[in-house]
Amino acid sequence: MGSLVMAGSAMLILVLVCTMCGLALAITDGLLPNGNFERGPLPSQLRGTRVLTSSGIPSWQTSGFVEYIPSGQKQGDMLLPVPEGAYAVRLGNEASIRQRLRGLARGARYAVTFSAARTCAQAETLNVSASGQSGVLPMQTMYSSNGWDSYAWAWDAVADEADLVVHNPGVVEDPACGPLVDSVAVKTLNPPRRTNKNLVKNGDFEEGPYIIPGTKWGVLIPSRVVDDHSPLPGWMVESLKAIKYIDAGSFAVPRGRRAVELVAGRESAVSQVIRTVPGRRYALSFTVGDASNACRGSLMVEAYAGRESVKVTYESAGKGGVKRAVLPFRAASPRTRIVFFSSFYSTRSDDLSSLCGPVLDDVAVVSVRAPKRG
Ligand SMILES: *[C@@H]1O[C@H](CO)[C@@H](O)[C@H](O)[C@H]1NC(C)=O
Repeated sequence: MGSLVMAGSAMLILVLVCTMCGLALAITDGLLPNGNFERGPLPSQLRGTRVLTSSGIPSWQTSGFVEYIPSGQKQGDMLLPVPEGAYAVRLGNEASIRQRLRGLARGARYAVTFSAARTCAQAETLNVSASGQSGVLPMQTMYSSNGWDSYAWAWDAVADEADLVVHNPGVVEDPACGPLVDSVAVKTLNPPRRTNKNLVKNGDFEEGPYIIPGTKWGVLIPSRVVDDHSPLPGWMVESLKAIKYIDAGSFAVPRGRRAVELVAGRESAVSQVIRTVPGRRYALSFTVGDASNACRGSLMVEAYAGRESVKVTYESAGKGGVKRAVLPFRAASPRTRIVFFSSFYSTRSDDLSSLCGPVLDDVAVVSVRAPKRG
């Protein structure tokens, strides 16, 4: 009897341990191990700021001209700020950082988020790759005032492990040019579902890349030109420039925890193709607002459903606020593209070098029954 109870509890412990090991195996959302580079090389692995050995930075493999930059480091007259903690890395000519990710689910989509800042005046890009997929992201610095922006890129896992690589493909005269990188995080993206009422997937933008807590500049979602797998499930960013993914921790968000800010005027649109029945009437409704980020003045969002469109003006005091708008339309085909963009550029009233724009949230398309006649 006693030994049966013992055997039973041993079984229970075994089951518990295995449930826990199962959980520990799946990759968790958030910063990667040493994703903020707070643990650095031993003094013997550094010459000045240059990292001398490929495994000098714990949890990472590096190649090329990689520097380990402490907060407060100066380059010429310029002070290099570090967005999180006290350290970041700089990727010089042809430099890369690499980390093996484990516990991926084959076929699932993942987004990586990282913060980056340019250090020299020329155009800089970073090539991010995993699972045989890659995207070259232009570093665009006009979005936040301290020079740092966060970027998202997504890929589909083809195995349960993958090497995530961030590479600076540039070759310039000064090897100390090249972006600073900090705060590398991943998130599993859940496939968006359409509810039986709303034909738009992820219309509230709640599903998207990881936003590093405490970052005050959101996450840039690059355009499809550089990115075939959208880090914003259901949605595509078209044209040249990025849109900004924002969270309620640092911004005013009309509904839920997440929304998008249309920061690039007409140069960037967010769109989705929905299924419609030709000839049937629908209503596209959405919320326009401001992120409470000193983006003042007349903002305007243009929305399209197929060929029909509406312009929605929103007078922003820059302190947060919302306005609901509706575009009734009749579907012309079995697929209707809905598109949103900001009619013009705006800049923050507290910092004229930072672009800002209207916030979009809570997008829905519902079928509208024609009123009965007679
Ligand atoms: C980006 O990196 C991947 C993986 O190393 C490589 O296959 C791809 O050619 C690179 N893209 C560019 C434009 O350099």
